[in-house]
Amino acid sequence: MSQIVLLTSIVIRLLAFFWSVDLVRRFRDWRLVLLSGVLGLMVLRHALNSPWVRAEWPRVADVGSALPAILVSIGLLITVILIGRMIEDHRSALEAASAATRALQENQTRLQFVVDQAPVVLWALDNEGVFTLSEGHGLEALGLQPGEVVGRSVFDVYNGNAGVLSDARKALAGHRARSAVRVGDLVFESRQRPLVDSSGRVVGVLGIAVDVTARERAMTDLEATNRALTNAYDSTLEGWVRALDLRDRETEGHTKRVTKLTVELARRVGVPEDELVHVRRGALLHDIGKIGIPDAVLRKPGPLDEDEWKLMRQHPVWAHEMISAVDFLQPALDIPYCHHERWDGEGYPRGLAGESIPLSARVFAVIDVWDALRSDRPYSEAWDEDRVLAHLREQAGGQFDPAVVEEFLGMLAEA
Ligand code: C2E
Ligand code: SIN
Ligand code: SIN
Ligand code: FE
Ligand code: FE
Repeated sequence: MSQIVLLTSIVIRLLAFFWSVDLVRRFRDWRLVLLSGVLGLMVLRHALNSPWVRAEWPRVADVGSALPAILVSIGLLITVILIGRMIEDHRSALEAASAATRALQENQTRLQFVVDQAPVVLWALDNEGVFTLSEGHGLEALGLQPGEVVGRSVFDVYNGNAGVLSDARKALAGHRARSAVRVGDLVFESRQRPLVDSSGRVVGVLGIAVDVTARERAMTDLEATNRALTNAYDSTLEGWVRALDLRDRETEGHTKRVTKLTVELARRVGVPEDELVHVRRGALLHDIGKIGIPDAVLRKPGPLDEDEWKLMRQHPVWAHEMISAVDFLQPALDIPYCHHERWDGEGYPRGLAGESIPLSARVFAVIDVWDALRSDRPYSEAWDEDRVLAHLREQAGGQFDPAVVEEFLGMLAEA
């Protein structure tokens, strides 16, 4: 009986011994090597000291008791150290885990803060389009409580909102969708993306929408302000121009007339629609440079002398200087700067010829001369209509672009 007990105990101890050897192999820790050695010796000593061995082989038992007791002490010491170490390791692992948990919670709090405070709506759909999540401060504007639509299909909740639904369909089909979505008076910038499992199957949709209504409104206000500002600029221009007209000639309405006809003719010869606003401003301002011409010259009843002509030929250059200082008028520069250039290259201030003269200026020149000749000027009386038209025909290819003259005569004939 006691033999069985002893054998069993030896087997168990041997197993313990091999297990510690295995630990050593796994962890390659010198302390474990030492511990295993000491444990092995303890086991051996214990086995040799058992009553049965003592009875059968007293000499062998003596060897056992001769094993130095100090080994046992060393073993115990190492065991205590090891256990201490294990506890230490365990504790720092626990601390790392709780730090990670804290970081995760902080992140979660931060995310929740955004969702609660910012005008966003966060939602999730399952693979059939049923809401599984709906939260965010933006819900308030939609008149929804967090979670209120959970369990309902997006196709019911947003029935009739083509924008939301087409994005949801796209995301359920596995694509990202992004669009500006209108819900009532509100505008959301909405993104939906598919949620896929590891095999690439769409299991749902995650969506976020930001309420940009305020921003949109601000933009609209800004556009209105811009329009008002542009109108204010244009009214200012018209005021200046009336003052110029009054000074330049008795004939009222020259600038108004030539401006209207210039825009009309420019459209007919193919100036793009979005440039016509600049053509209009250019025509209004065509003689702004005459501000620099003294009355004595401008209102001189007879022909100009050489010095006076030198001065007069500067008026397009002065217009260029004045207008280029104003951003808003930059694109309107062509007519004021180039309306006295001639098709044959004999004009001023640069002597440009043919198509190197901007088209709007070629158009304007014909109309300006047509209107000037029909009116009484300080230096010359009005011409009759036939003489004016004959003059235009005669100057087609000389002073004027012949194609523009032809188009203008056609336009007059239609009127
Ligand atoms: P404006 O009176 O507005 O004339 C504009 C343009 O119409 C002139 O540019 C010219 O191309 C044409 N034009 C006007 N009157 C006549 C005319 O009697 N015969 C012909 N063939 N064309 C005419 P232009 O010649 O470069 O003159 C620019 C500006 O110089 C004129 O503007 C006017 O303010 C001034 N100016 C021109 N000639 C005289 C003049 O003899 N006496 C005075 N006081 N000023 C003149
Ligand atoms: C939702 O309310 O969950 C969706 C909002 C949107 O797409 O604008
Ligand atoms: C005018 O149009 O008022 C004068 C003509 C010109 O110089 O262009
Ligand atoms: Fe001029
Ligand atoms: Fe003019």
